[in-house]
Amino acid sequence: MLTKGLNIGENGHLFIENCDTVELAKEYGTPLYVMNESLIRDNCKRYKNFFADNFSSLSFPCYASKALSCLEIYRIMKEEGMGVDVVSGGELYTALNAGFPAEKIFFHGNNKTEQELRMAIKYGVGRIIVDNLTELEVLNDIASEMNANVNIGFRIKPGIDAHTHDYIRTGQIDSKFGFALENGEAKEAVKKALGYSNVSLCQVHCHIGSQIFDTEPFSDAVKVMLGFIAEINSEFDFLIKELNLGGGLGAKYTDADSPLEIEDYLAPVAKTFHETCSKLNIPEPSFHIEPGRSIVGESGTTLYTIGNVKEIKGVRTYVSVDGGMCDNIRYALYKAEYTVLNASKSQGEVLKNVTIAGKCCESGDLLKEGTDLIEPKRGDVLAVLTTGAYNYSMASNYNRILRPAIVMVKNGRSRVVVQRESYADLLNNDI
Ligand code: LLP
Repeated sequence: MLTKGLNIGENGHLFIENCDTVELAKEYGTPLYVMNESLIRDNCKRYKNFFADNFSSLSFPCYASKALSCLEIYRIMKEEGMGVDVVSGGELYTALNAGFPAEKIFFHGNNKTEQELRMAIKYGVGRIIVDNLTELEVLNDIASEMNANVNIGFRIKPGIDAHTHDYIRTGQIDSKFGFALENGEAKEAVKKALGYSNVSLCQVHCHIGSQIFDTEPFSDAVKVMLGFIAEINSEFDFLIKELNLGGGLGAKYTDADSPLEIEDYLAPVAKTFHETCSKLNIPEPSFHIEPGRSIVGESGTTLYTIGNVKEIKGVRTYVSVDGGMCDNIRYALYKAEYTVLNASKSQGEVLKNVTIAGKCCESGDLLKEGTDLIEPKRGDVLAVLTTGAYNYSMASNYNRILRPAIVMVKNGRSRVVVQRESYADLLNNDI
């Protein structure tokens, strides 16, 4: 399985956007995150175009930067006219330093610190998405002390759990994120906010899960959320002007995944949105979403160099690479499946069934188990596909292993956008 922008060259090497991955590994070293810039920009354009054709002019898609956060990604998002969602002072700081316009930043989180709230107010982020009643009160106090009026949204639990196959519409109260609908908590929050002088309620937000392949849960969430807007409108004579549906569209990791195209996911959502607004007889709110994985996931490929190949007769063969759970913790954490390829020789040699192991001192430090690989030899380049989302952003220095560089590729050209860490970097904060 090859994802978009990948192909096998005549020399048998894996190419990304016309760049030979074996050459990239030679030039920049490994492990290396390679990001297909054209694909990232193309995905943004598809979201933007769909929005332009289907929603009001105040509507825009936001990139969920927890998927991959670094200066260059915010610069790209700015150029592509996206908003961004941030979830910590660190992401906010990075976005602002990239020159990203504060008014197009939505600030999330279930436990923002007072320092983070002050920072968000100081720099004028577009929306602070409030998670709970305590936060609402604290935010109003801080805003009043800072003489500010803050535009807020509410994170709502719409009662749709898209992670079960047969997803359910109620009873998702047990989540650390947001206000529940069924026990009246969300309504209570609206009442409180309307009584506060330093916050203005603009938005209701929900996020029903991640790596979702169906459109139905999204459409159901739209109905629930618009129903809430209508209820608030009739009860409090107050119109909430924005609906934010969060992220969640899936990416292709292996042949078992069949994610929808961006437009095929959005079309039924837009249809439900328009129909429900007219059925409920409410003016259409502006519409927002926050895709992360579906923008950067398939754009990323991690390159490693194969080191030791350990064949344990009758058990399995471990192929060890020069990275592992420190740059991709998703197999260790979620048993997440990936596609791996021998990027140095993609044709005509013997397949071997192997387990890909990392170099950390941890038996669970694996990237994939029981996969067929064209005869792996020490020095070959191994590619793991679809690593653009939640890999670099979840990387660590466990075992004092250095975080890899990120290289962007576009039309046969490559450039470093995040440098490889150095040993000296490891001592930066040590006293
Ligand atoms: N908006 C909110 C409020 C979110 O919590 C998330 C993801 C997104 C947007 C973006 O969702 P996406 O489009 O990327 O599915 N570490 C996990 C993923 C956690 C996602 C958490 N929230 C993983 O590696 O699979």
